[in-house]
Amino acid sequence: MGRASFRVWGWAWLACWAMASCASESEPRAPRLAPNQPNGNSALASAMVAMDGQLQATLTSVMADPDHSWEGRRLVEHDLLGLDPTDDSMINGHYLEHAPLYALAVAQFNAHPSADHFNAVVESCTSCHLGTCPGPLDRIAKRRVSAE
Ligand code: HEC
Repeated sequence: MGRASFRVWGWAWLACWAMASCASESEPRAPRLAPNQPNGNSALASAMVAMDGQLQATLTSVMADPDHSWEGRRLVEHDLLGLDPTDDSMINGHYLEHAPLYALAVAQFNAHPSADHFNAVVESCTSCHLGTCPGPLDRIAKRRVSAE
């Protein structure tokens, strides 16, 4: 195989991987690319994994608290406009519109942590994902606090 065709195959593989990370997780897919998961490939994907983990950890810790208290809970404010994605096409108009809404939701939660403001953050994840990267939607839906 010549050098040029080798490069073409490399890009094709990368494109498939990029789509796979945003593809639906509920559908069975070809063998998972273990080294890239769950730490993510791009800086943006890694931040997303951290954001998701933080929502899950916060939820678990609030539920473990006998009073289910939200007091003093904080979420890290990631700068979603300053991180490189797996593929440039992921940063579309929808993304640019929703990144500031996510930042507002996190700032609101940090100023007044509550179940409602937590769900507003989850909502902001969902609304961006609907127009950029639908794969993790099912996973994100599980982060919602259900009414007790
Ligand atoms: C402004 C748009 C936007 C917001 C807001 C957003 N995401 Fe994402 N998310 C993306 C894009 C685009 C990707 C693909 C990133 C990549 O592959 O580089 C992604 C990827 C992911 C992934 C897959 C990471 C992987 O393993 O490749 C998860 C999980 C995720 N996001 C969860 C969340 C959660 C949870 C929130 C809210 C706290 C959130 N996202 C908020 C756009 C967004």
